[in-house]
Amino acid sequence: MNLAKKNIVITGAASGIGEALASHFVKLKANVFLADIDQPKLSLVAETLRCSYNVCDVANEEDVFALVNHAETELGQIDLFCSNAGILFKGEAVPLALDEEYWMKSWCVNVMSHVYAARHVLPQMIQRQSGYFLQIISAAALLSQIGAPAYSATKSAALSFAESLAISYGHEGIKVSAACPQYVATPMLGFEDTKLPRDAKNLISADEAALQIIDGVLQEKFLILTDSGLIKFFERKHKDYDQWIIGMQRLQNKIVHAKGEINLDNMYKFI
Ligand SMILES: NC(=O)c1ccc[n+]([C@@H]2O[C@H](COP(=O)([O-])OP(=O)(O)OC[C@H]3O[C@@H](n4cnc5c(N)ncnc54)[C@H](O)[C@@H]3O)[C@@H](O)[C@H]2O)c1
Repeated sequence: MNLAKKNIVITGAASGIGEALASHFVKLKANVFLADIDQPKLSLVAETLRCSYNVCDVANEEDVFALVNHAETELGQIDLFCSNAGILFKGEAVPLALDEEYWMKSWCVNVMSHVYAARHVLPQMIQRQSGYFLQIISAAALLSQIGAPAYSATKSAALSFAESLAISYGHEGIKVSAACPQYVATPMLGFEDTKLPRDAKNLISADEAALQIIDGVLQEKFLILTDSGLIKFFERKHKDYDQWIIGMQRLQNKIVHAKGEINLDNMYKFI
């Protein structure tokens, strides 16, 4: 897909991967419309990139509907909708410890936001017989994130929804990419600085992630990975699920042994 002059909406654009994607879309001469729940950060990014924006909670369908209307008024038809906004709760460690509110919030932000976007953008795309959904999901959808049950479960559901969109609407000219990055140094993982730390093995910058994701979109790939090693673990999982669970249990033991508990800090060092 050639992105020049395409009308793109991107959520979660005030930070991390979303901000980096928006910046590269602009460099590729796309018309970019930004959305995020964080008004102060979003307005700064919008000013820097000279883009229009809408403050929006993607977990709320009315907000997503308003975002789509606002973007269509500013840009015209939406050619590519990028659902990037996502959340990860740091205190997830034990599956049942995470309370109902966090599970529901994870479900609404990480899954329903993709459904709401499709509900309000897909009909126009089907009418035109063309359109693109870029879903920023996670390697946790493929391989589970130790210490993050709600994140893993909801990202798996988001991947499944992306598959359904691609399967159901491919014949209507709809393309879908599901990006599954592994560890990216963004505020979500506690990195406020865009510079990578010295021990950055298995960790990439938001800029690098964005470039790899855009490369996948240019090739119109469904599954976009930002870590070449991931596919090997994914294949192993599918070859022998039981053995994969044993391997993950061993990895969890290794983390507990090294850190004394399961928490999400510096997880990238253990793969
Ligand atoms: N950082 C990683 O290692 C990593 C790895 C794989 C996948 N991802 C995914 O990439 C996406 C971007 O994450 P990031 O690492 O850039 O994180 P980030 O925290 O830097 O950015 C997330 C952005 O989403 C916005 N957001 C959160 N909830 C929202 C809501 N309800 N409505 C609108 N905006 C909302 C935040 O304000 C923030 O600007 C997420 O979906 C995340 O799950 C991240």
